[in-house]
Amino acid sequence: MKLPETVHIVEVGPRDGLQNEKQQVATATKVELIRRLAAAGLKTIEATAFVSPKWVPQMGDNAEVLRQTLAAPAPGVNYPVLTPNLQGLEAALAAGASEIAVFGAASEAFSQKNINCSIAESLERFRPVIAAARAAGVRARGYVSCVVACPYAGDIAPEAVAEVAAALFDMGCYQISLGDTIGAGTPRRIRRMLEAVAARVPVAQLAGHYHDTCGMAIANLYASLEMGVNTFDASISGLGGCPYAAGAAGNVATEDVIYLLEGLGIATGIDLDALIDCSAWISAALGRPPGSKVALARLGRRKEH
Ligand code: HMG
Ligand code: MG
Repeated sequence: MKLPETVHIVEVGPRDGLQNEKQQVATATKVELIRRLAAAGLKTIEATAFVSPKWVPQMGDNAEVLRQTLAAPAPGVNYPVLTPNLQGLEAALAAGASEIAVFGAASEAFSQKNINCSIAESLERFRPVIAAARAAGVRARGYVSCVVACPYAGDIAPEAVAEVAAALFDMGCYQISLGDTIGAGTPRRIRRMLEAVAARVPVAQLAGHYHDTCGMAIANLYASLEMGVNTFDASISGLGGCPYAAGAAGNVATEDVIYLLEGLGIATGIDLDALIDCSAWISAALGRPPGSKVALARLGRRKEH
């Protein structure tokens, strides 16, 4: 099958990556990470989450991160932020957000644990958030978590994913990001899930958000490319996880995705060397080696020379 000619990467490291960090990450480090990611050529960088600081203290400096980022924005770069409710939206708009994302799930149990309400309640909560965002000229993206399996309820039916994806799309989300929250997917299951969703939402409006817990994220991404998906979420150095999905690893590493896409001759506009410098920098700041195989290989080779 013909692969897409260009692929868009949504960098989620500063949000998905840092929301699960055990240590306190300084606001200045977050802002500098976002700056370096933009300098490497990323055009969409999810900056932070306007969620309750009681639920996710790591995102408690959300307004400051966004304000400082927007004080010196890189040209042509979007900085979306998560907003679970109207309270989050209002705070995000006050801090200058120009794109937001609501986040639902295809699993009832995960919805309860993550956002403290049922799927149906979450959709009713998102409807005015999306409408108010759009009325303010702000684009809304929709996430669906647990598109393959749930940490509490096990396997999730592809039709359940399609149902929530279609609801968010019909409410006005311009793109639906499909989250394999616990990285349980394999290409066959991802394909089946995408087939079900693509029957309800155009493939051009879908994004893959694959955590790499079982090392399958790159394979799942390739399977999705073959099905025409051309937007993928990725996290610098493979940072991250979800505080309400214990044991889940970070998103697929951005460096690994760019290496794959370059190898396939697919344009991304991202400078892999600059990305690897950024990976080395944030890994040093967090006190551990990069979680990207490509970054480790390239940094090892640089040391040898
Ligand atoms: P709740 O406790 O039901 O909310 O939480 P509430 O409306 O009853 O309010 C309770 C308190 O929270 C009040 O404060 C509110 O003001 C405050 P109090 O009166 O007790 O002092 N509050 C807020 N504060 C700041 N910002 C807000 C906000 N909303 C309420 N927006 C809520 C419901 C949704 C707020 C909570 O469950 C929450 O914040 N959950 C977020 C969890 C989260 O961030 N998870 C990680 C992101 S999702 C993810 O990682 C998956 C993804 O990557 C895709 C994938 O991998 O699958 C996207
Ligand atoms: Mg995630």
